[in-house]
Amino acid sequence: MATIKIALLGFGTVGRGVYEVIQSHQNTLYEQTDSHIEVSAVLVQHPNQQRELPEHILVTDSIEDILKTDIHIVIEAIVGENPAYPYLKQAIEKGCHVITANKAMFANHGDELNQLATEHGVKVGYEATTAGGIPIIRTLQQLRVNQVQRIEGILNGTSNYILSKMADEQLEFDDALAQAKELGYAEADPANDIEGLDAFYKLMILSDTAFSSQPDWSDVMINGIKGITLDHIKETISSGKVIKHVATIQNEDGALRASVQPMLLSPDHPLASIKGVDNAITIDTDLLGKVTLQGPGAGRYPTASALLEDLVSVVKEEVQTSVPYRLQKHLQIVKG
Ligand SMILES: NC(=O)c1ccc[n+]([C@@H]2O[C@H](COP(=O)([O-])OP(=O)(O)OC[C@H]3O[C@@H](n4cnc5c(N)ncnc54)[C@H](OP(=O)(O)O)[C@@H]3O)[C@@H](O)[C@H]2O)c1
Repeated sequence: MATIKIALLGFGTVGRGVYEVIQSHQNTLYEQTDSHIEVSAVLVQHPNQQRELPEHILVTDSIEDILKTDIHIVIEAIVGENPAYPYLKQAIEKGCHVITANKAMFANHGDELNQLATEHGVKVGYEATTAGGIPIIRTLQQLRVNQVQRIEGILNGTSNYILSKMADEQLEFDDALAQAKELGYAEADPANDIEGLDAFYKLMILSDTAFSSQPDWSDVMINGIKGITLDHIKETISSGKVIKHVATIQNEDGALRASVQPMLLSPDHPLASIKGVDNAITIDTDLLGKVTLQGPGAGRYPTASALLEDLVSVVKEEVQTSVPYRLQKHLQIVKG
């Protein structure tokens, strides 16, 4: 029986979830890949912390030690752009497939990683970077004849939870945020969520996937929900509307226009009824029209689900490495 060796970069909420699901779904993974999937190395920041992992798994804070071993696939779930980006570059250069959940890193460097992977004949999976378990990347990649014209989404579960609580229970912003922290839906420092940056990164990844390009970041209006008060919510309710934090991108005659901001939606808008920590994305295409996907946008098992679906696709060679924008531009220049 073939064995596929996995290195997990990060063993927090997401990394631990991936490890657990690899153990609990060993038979399904075997049926799907014809291989035994084995976690053989784990990278963490504090390797001496107690983690109850079997002795044969290398636990280290050194990426070099991990890449010296015989690894086939690297699954990355650490936080922030660095050192995740250089680590994944090194992994690709060694010939490993890479799969990531890291939106901040991938919004900044997805293009370079895709190009490098193409040069080295390996795949990059990034379904988990955007909207947790919702298979939105896969859905966009499967639309080959349709032209996507617009994408609109609730991409940050923390913001949606806070707005839902404010509207349903008439809570002040700070009280709803405190509840979100208590339940583990918001981090100790929730700035990226409530200031809109988290949704912005995800929108840029959707843009790369749907349009093979991103707008100039400085042209994108990014507003979070932190200025919204209970009075705003009450006014909105009495006008028959709903406030939602919405990330939008559309193709206007070849120019991409994007924004991330609180918006007033009519009750019949597909995103108006999305409550709590759920995410939802509406894709509008020329042939299909509007399709909305809704589901858990974060959490240990939904995110592990996206990473493991990518794992199976990578092994079956189904993951499409989208033609990077700069490469496309280069091809146009060469052609033209
Ligand atoms: N949580 C979610 O629901 C969710 C959903 C979608 C995507 N994501 C993305 O997934 C990634 C991981 O999120 P998480 O919630 O699992 O984070 P987390 O619980 O904070 O875990 C982070 C893990 O990464 C390790 N780590 C951090 N910096 C490192 C470094 N410089 N070198 C080596 N290891 C390092 C930590 O090591 P120690 O254990 O030693 O501290 C920890 O094991 C993030 O990029 C996040 O945006 C998360």
